[in-house]
Amino acid sequence: MAFPKTRMRRLRATEGLRGLVRETELSAARLMLPLFVVDAGSGHPSREPIATMPGVERLSISAAVAEAREAAALGIAAVMLFGIPGEKDEHGSAAWDDEGVVQVAARAIKQAQPELLVVTDVCLCEYTTHGHCGVLRADGSVDNDATVELLARIAVSHARAGADLVAPSDMMDGRVGAIREELDGEGFSEIPILAYSAKFASAFYGPFRDAAGSTPAFGDRRAYQMDPANAREAVREALLDVQEGADMVMVKPALAYGDLISAIKSAAGLPLAAYNVSGEYAMVKAAAAAGAIDERAAVLEILTSLRRAGADTIISYHAKDAARWLTEQS
Ligand code: PBG
Repeated sequence: MAFPKTRMRRLRATEGLRGLVRETELSAARLMLPLFVVDAGSGHPSREPIATMPGVERLSISAAVAEAREAAALGIAAVMLFGIPGEKDEHGSAAWDDEGVVQVAARAIKQAQPELLVVTDVCLCEYTTHGHCGVLRADGSVDNDATVELLARIAVSHARAGADLVAPSDMMDGRVGAIREELDGEGFSEIPILAYSAKFASAFYGPFRDAAGSTPAFGDRRAYQMDPANAREAVREALLDVQEGADMVMVKPALAYGDLISAIKSAAGLPLAAYNVSGEYAMVKAAAAAGAIDERAAVLEILTSLRRAGADTIISYHAKDAARWLTEQS
């Protein structure tokens, strides 16, 4: 039946009708808020603005606990912790220190907000002097298998500190399996792994690297992160993570990768997270500040589009604003 009997506009006429047939829901319970936590002594400011990410700050442990409390009050599901260590070294050893910044922050947040999920980013780039996501060989390339051992050690240390989920973001081969085995061996068989399965070598991580001080000192990450041109390979990465025991998969970045959110959601059959990354956040903030877009409408549209594409959960620096706007709406 075609026009004029069919009129698509009938069900768009009022908010009541639109709400009745809306296909995708967005709620704070689907959001995770990333936090940058700094290991700093007294004298360091408890909150330090990040120039390229207006509204986002580097936090002391106590400021991170305050942020977590606010996130929980807004109904946000989880915080995702990124650590900025006091000392970096060649191997990134501060990453698996039980008294490291993420470990201390995870314990403090779990104690203050037991219901709020704490997800930890398992990677080495913030902890190594060279800024790469693993151990370097003499020729400057990242040694996959040596790195995987360290990642497993980091994941166990995070679990010991009370992390509810561990999220490896390094893109080494075999890390999910190795982390699973190590967690199980250490008595953490109940801790799920959220695998950054399809993580691309992207131009959209710039502000994050500013925030975390993790820009590679030389070269780039294209020998371990994926080529943005590849979709079949992304699905294969996700399926390998499923085989290795991942509980959830991730697509990162989000906005230019909606096709892969959809494809991996169907192929992997696992809950999927989309990471609405720092550069995506910075673009929206800049456009809004320039008066080019309505920030609130744009953010809610973006987050809804990621849910529509197939994301069960979204990691976003907009999480607190979005959660506020969503409660105002209803
Ligand atoms: C690596 C990591 C990065 C991001 C999350 N985990 C940076 C990178 O791969 O260079 C980027 C997140 C963002 O841009 O918001 N530990």
